[in-house]
Amino acid sequence: MPIRGSITMPGDKSISHRALLIASMIPGENLINNISTGQDVENTLQCLNSIGIKSDKNNNTLSIQGGNFKIPKERLFCGNSGTTLRLLSGLLVGLNMKAELYGDESLLSRPMDRIINPLLNMGANIKGDNNYAPIAINPVASLKDLEYNMTIASAQVKSALLLAGIGSNKKIIINEPYPTRNHTEIMLADIGYNICKKDDSIILKPNKNPIENINIDIPGDISSAAFLIGAACMIPNSDLRINDLLINETRMGFIKILKKMGAGIIIHNPRYINGEKVGDIQVHYKPLYGINITAKDIPSIIDELPILSVVATQAEGMMIISGAEELRYKESNRIKSIVLNLKRMGVKAIEKKDGFIIEGPSILNKALIQSYDDHRIAMSFIIAGISSGGYSDIDNIECINSSYPEFIKTLKKVIR
Ligand code: S3P
Repeated sequence: MPIRGSITMPGDKSISHRALLIASMIPGENLINNISTGQDVENTLQCLNSIGIKSDKNNNTLSIQGGNFKIPKERLFCGNSGTTLRLLSGLLVGLNMKAELYGDESLLSRPMDRIINPLLNMGANIKGDNNYAPIAINPVASLKDLEYNMTIASAQVKSALLLAGIGSNKKIIINEPYPTRNHTEIMLADIGYNICKKDDSIILKPNKNPIENINIDIPGDISSAAFLIGAACMIPNSDLRINDLLINETRMGFIKILKKMGAGIIIHNPRYINGEKVGDIQVHYKPLYGINITAKDIPSIIDELPILSVVATQAEGMMIISGAEELRYKESNRIKSIVLNLKRMGVKAIEKKDGFIIEGPSILNKALIQSYDDHRIAMSFIIAGISSGGYSDIDNIECINSSYPEFIKTLKKVIR
């Protein structure tokens, strides 16, 4: 069943979270076009509404009235969304507000010391439950400038600290072990904040410039598109075009790795919108080969590793993925969920502490798939099922709504 046609995607999830959070801090009307339709971003919006931010949706444009915060009466529910909880914690620390944040069962089991520790270094009063959510934030007399050496490459941590710096007007220097997605930096620079990158450091200086209101067109979500791009790469006769897609360098790891594996991918019409690189992607089937992926490649492909593992089953030779231990701390333990499901489909896959090895090409058999309520595992194994020529049974696919509620509808449109 080849994948053919021309489509567009809902707005990128990472950029959507940031647009909402940053807009909330800028007094006056901020406009966001093509925001992500997923529940994760809706959770960010609802949390902002609970802290006094007014919003209004008109067709594809969301209007946010920034600047008027109030102390929330209830705990802030972040659902399944790590980005909501971590970035919002940074924002609330910067605004010196009292709040408590929590989430669903999966989010309550994800590590929060990675934001708690640097925010404590800034002088915040922030506490977790043994370094997990719920997170309690209380006001303090004053916050300090921060220079922080990140030990893990995490855009969520970086962005939480930058948002804390914006709210408190403090100087923030962050030293990254490897570059991570830079949407917060791009958005802040685009509206007038004094932020720059020097070697491996991101430097945010206290603000003296006038700040513009946000008026942003969010490009299509490349991490959601990855499932369809992966399918078109591995299913013979496929030819898919995705227009107006985010092609920011820090998110292009999947495309670059697929090309190294031999995939037929062409980018048309590259351009910049609101500081972000956007283009149209054309993908057609070509034979693929397994390659080696190491720690330095991981941050730019972290969300695409589940679908990459499925694509690897159709590549000739060994696909070896290492330096990816962070996968264990996502919506599910993704190293475990990937390897277990691949094995159930009959693939030779080996679990490693920091990654996995897949031997291809492999016939994918119909199997009972466990999504672990993880949207990216569910979507990856739906593609695996289609590539096998049949369908697998997946225990829960409702989790797909976290990021890409239109996935099944769009897939039905492009399967020929
Ligand atoms: C995200 C950063 C990544 C990614 C997540 C979204 C973001 O997490 O996995 O889906 O929007 O900043 P980490 O920063 O924890 O690696």
